[in-house]
Amino acid sequence: MYAGIAFAATPPAPPLDKGGMEEGVAHARYLWSQSPHGKMLERILPPSIEPGELPEPRSEGARLAARYCVQCHYLPSPRMHIADKWTTIVVRMVWRMQGKGNLGELMKEMMDRIEAPDDQEIVTLTRYLQKHGLREMDPRHPGLKSEAGKMFSIACTQCHAAPDPRRHTAREWPEVVERMKRHMAWANTVVGPDSLKTMPVLDTGEIVRFLQRHARAEPKPQSK
Ligand code: HEC
Ligand code: HEC
Repeated sequence: MYAGIAFAATPPAPPLDKGGMEEGVAHARYLWSQSPHGKMLERILPPSIEPGELPEPRSEGARLAARYCVQCHYLPSPRMHIADKWTTIVVRMVWRMQGKGNLGELMKEMMDRIEAPDDQEIVTLTRYLQKHGLREMDPRHPGLKSEAGKMFSIACTQCHAAPDPRRHTAREWPEVVERMKRHMAWANTVVGPDSLKTMPVLDTGEIVRFLQRHARAEPKPQSK
């Protein structure tokens, strides 16, 4: 989407100002506590990553994400979405930051405190998120036709694309899926009528086995 824009070389990364970035999260928490819509905003994304845990935490992209992307909700992990998806999400979020989103009215009381990135920063941010984005499982993979594959697909594409099982080893997958279950529980703690809540009944055992069958091989023990 930004293909027409010439990419300037990223300037040397500033020293990691951890205090400053965590201040951003504290600031968002403060805004939620002040806004009547704070409960809704807080549930948009689960708390999953601290600014210092971003990939390449000293890069300009990480700095911009920690600066702009925690103003309304918890910091998004770049690993959550595939590259294509990030392009459209950043456009939508910048739109919101400029006060034009359809929640603009609703978030009015917050809006005058929200900063929006400039064009060059948008390019840097988008490239950063894309570079560290999720790799999708090949949709033609025959495994997806099996029962377990379908279950995986349905359960794991509710929030992002179906991840490539080779992203993790068989040993790593159970922990990742446990974390995803916590994200699901978080998203389900809907503030509002009970009728809107859904119960995630999920046989994650079956999904974990599916991921493990197609997982990346364990690294070979280091030879001396
Ligand atoms: C002005 C407030 C605001 C800012 C700042 C903001 N967002 Fe959002 N974001 C929202 C709202 C509201 C939603 C829920 C509605 C939606 O998805 O558009 C949301 C949802 C999301 C989601 C979950 C929806 C999905 O498609 O997965 C992601 C991911 C996200 N934002 C990423 C970002 C990133 C990256 C940035 C920084 C470039 C950012 N946001 C900055 C308001 C904001
Ligand atoms: C309720 C929303 C939600 C659902 C459903 C969900 N995820 Fe995620 N996923 C996230 C969020 C948020 C992140 C980014 C934060 C993180 O990594 O914990 C993420 C990131 C990931 C990543 C990249 C990070 C990493 O550690 O490699 C993988 C892989 C992943 N999810 C796998 C899965 C699998 C497998 C399922 C199905 C069992 C699943 N997800 C279902 C929300 C969800």
